[in-house]
Amino acid sequence: MIQVGINGYGTIGKRVADAVRAQPDMAVAGVAKTRPNFEAHRAVEEGYPLYAAIEERIDRFDEAGIDLAGTVDELVADSDVVVDATPSGVGAENKPLYEAHDTPALYQGGEDADLVEASFNARANYADAAGADHVRVVSCNTTGLSRLVAPLSETYGIEKIRATLVRRGGDPAQSGRGPINDTLPDPVTIPSHHGPDVNTIFPDLDIDTLGMKVPATLTHTHSVNVTLESDATAEGVRELLESESRIFVLPEYMDIDGSGKLKEFALDAGRPRGDLWENAVWGESITVEGDDLYLFQAIHQEADVVPENVDAVRAVLGEMDAAESRETTDEALGMGF
Ligand SMILES: NC(=O)c1ccc[n+]([C@@H]2O[C@H](COP(=O)([O-])OP(=O)(O)OC[C@H]3O[C@@H](n4cnc5c(N)ncnc54)[C@H](OP(=O)(O)O)[C@@H]3O)[C@@H](O)[C@H]2O)c1
Repeated sequence: MIQVGINGYGTIGKRVADAVRAQPDMAVAGVAKTRPNFEAHRAVEEGYPLYAAIEERIDRFDEAGIDLAGTVDELVADSDVVVDATPSGVGAENKPLYEAHDTPALYQGGEDADLVEASFNARANYADAAGADHVRVVSCNTTGLSRLVAPLSETYGIEKIRATLVRRGGDPAQSGRGPINDTLPDPVTIPSHHGPDVNTIFPDLDIDTLGMKVPATLTHTHSVNVTLESDATAEGVRELLESESRIFVLPEYMDIDGSGKLKEFALDAGRPRGDLWENAVWGESITVEGDDLYLFQAIHQEADVVPENVDAVRAVLGEMDAAESRETTDEALGMGF
């Protein structure tokens, strides 16, 4: 069993922990937190060994009656791979810790691309992570775009992408981001950072992205225009996307008109936390006009990077090839509807 340590047990970390535990070839070595809040309590209830991320704060866990398994230093030493799911920028501060133990580390999209040897998407460039010590699983938005770009570029070729990303203002638990009542061009300058980030996965892709932020918490929504290099039909594109395990093309009859119903659907389907690990593409939005493909997709920001982190664990250790890893991950999670 691959022992996976998870440093940072928040929105992404707790989901990655549960996904790792579900895999047939992995176990959670433990999770690390800086303080004893409700998530620390849940980690212990879930049976995950809990480690203190900051040694000087061990007393605070003692006072809260939460048992610790040790310090993050010990967790890193005992792990085959560490998933760093700490807030943006903290991963970079943790890098020397992973280097000191010679433990490969996976960082998240909030870290800069130049921190790592490879930026990662399981569908697009799995093999680039082989043997790397520092890998970045790209952000939720970049993951969502990469999953779309990979099959379209393989099948049709891509001349140019223009995507507008309508971004949720914060995650449901991010009370610090609200209350809000506004719509922001964010960033107001064009292109947004997302296009260059997609270029860390597809270096030669011509892509312009525009970002907005809206007072919503459930998902991001992308409006995507892809100029293709060869002839396509809406039916052909739809079939192609339906054949992708991490893209869910929403059938019209389901009457899912937005993020609210999408989350309700995922909850009704029994998904943990109502998580939607797949891109959700609105079937009736898939339109081809001349060389141009248009579509809308929703990206559940809290969830789509979770299977990618699981695959990245295997990729750095050279445990499986890309297709086998994705299939193993998807089956263990119960992906697909
Ligand atoms: N949320 C999203 O939509 C999303 C999507 C894709 C990628 N990402 C990326 O994923 C990363 C994590 O984001 P998140 O949303 O999961 O953040 P989050 O919900 O704030 O969780 C971060 C966790 O890290 C812990 N932490 C803080 N400082 C730490 C330290 N020095 N050492 C160890 N743990 C520490 C926090 O625990 P304490 O409470 O104990 O301090 C918290 O549990 C970021 O790079 C982010 O950009 C986020």
